[in-house]
Amino acid sequence: MKPTPAQRKELAARRSELMRRIGKNGVAIVPAAHEVIRARDTHYRFRQNSDFAYLTGFPEPEAIAVFAPGRGDGEFVLFVRPKDKVRETWDGRRFGAAGARRAFGADQAYDLDEFETRLPSLLSGREVLHYTLGEFPEMDARVARLVRHLREVSRRGAAAPTTIVALETTLHEMRLFKRPAEIELMRKAAQVSAAAHVRAMRAAKPGKYEWQIAAEIHSEFDAHDMQPGYGSIVGGGENACILHYVENEARLRDGDLLLIDAGGELAGYTADITRTFPVNGRFSPEQKAVYEVVLAAQKAALRQMKPGVSSGRPHEAATRTLTEGMVELGLLKGQPDALIKSEKHRQFYMHGTGHWLGMDVHDVGRYRVDGKPRPFEPGMVMTVEPGLYIAPGTPGVSKRFWGIGIRIEDDVLITRDGHEILTGDVPKSVRDIEQLMAA
Ligand code: GLY
Ligand code: MN
Ligand code: MN
Repeated sequence: MKPTPAQRKELAARRSELMRRIGKNGVAIVPAAHEVIRARDTHYRFRQNSDFAYLTGFPEPEAIAVFAPGRGDGEFVLFVRPKDKVRETWDGRRFGAAGARRAFGADQAYDLDEFETRLPSLLSGREVLHYTLGEFPEMDARVARLVRHLREVSRRGAAAPTTIVALETTLHEMRLFKRPAEIELMRKAAQVSAAAHVRAMRAAKPGKYEWQIAAEIHSEFDAHDMQPGYGSIVGGGENACILHYVENEARLRDGDLLLIDAGGELAGYTADITRTFPVNGRFSPEQKAVYEVVLAAQKAALRQMKPGVSSGRPHEAATRTLTEGMVELGLLKGQPDALIKSEKHRQFYMHGTGHWLGMDVHDVGRYRVDGKPRPFEPGMVMTVEPGLYIAPGTPGVSKRFWGIGIRIEDDVLITRDGHEILTGDVPKSVRDIEQLMAA
């Protein structure tokens, strides 16, 4: 789809910011994603590369964007698949070079097969090439060949870049701080995803299959022109103890919990929500006891989420509360401090408490600066997702806790005065969940 005037303005502002950051000595090459085969001659649904989408909004595979700040003939150059009547009849519309200029504001646009002949003049005279190595191996080889060629001919005049810098150091720092237009999309993605979880809670009952509950969630996404931002996890009973359980194939049993980790992606931005609730609508005493510990840990983590506080603090706070809870529940024996130091808590809490969230579910952006976790700043979005997972058969743990797996995950925007929970529309207290499921 072509961008609206407001979206065009937004995309242009991102490009200007990138160009300001790389400067007139720099040039950036950003490739689009390629289609991926699913079965023989059919493809997975195409998803644009996030870096490329962030800067261009151009929705087609294989394209290449070049950004050359201050270039007289145009700073934003796109290479795109050519118009092709036959291919468009079979595979869908293409914008072509003229469409790329008209609808996406490229200063210049060419057919893809002109990339190699035109790149040398785009690189010429620029010292620093900003490019992400290792993501597109074929492109890496092409770029290396072209730079080398340019170096050879540069003896005869034109200068080739002397330095190749990882583009992500600039671009991913930009993506880490969400702009107002991005926050708006993330709020909407979060709201629809929250509604999908509520729908799942209402639909769950003993005897249904996990995939039937997944269908409720995906149907809510579909109804809002959204797709799952990652493989949905719908794990009943002990399946919840498998962190990336995506088979979603088992039957839900009376008395079990159901853990759902699913988030919808809207216009390239995904939510990431987990809720855990009883299949029959009522928590057992053991389930409730473990649940309250995880919920308290999430609250402790949330209290750390404000500007100026180290982004490592939520994990420390959650780990502390979880470990104290594990001792109270009798899962671990000893002093919480000592247990954390010797990493004993990892038997039941083996993952981190959060990650950046945005276009990619595990979004880009550095976590550490100067060797330590960076402080929170307004515009960052992080998940908060503590959990406890008590695998069946765990020795030394009372049988009544076996197979309980609980995670509670929300998406949190850091604001000037603290934070905003984007996914607050799904209940998470024991009472609110039981009330919703009883209604
Ligand atoms: N859904 C992936 C995660 O929570 O990190
Ligand atoms: Mn998740
Ligand atoms: Mn997550």
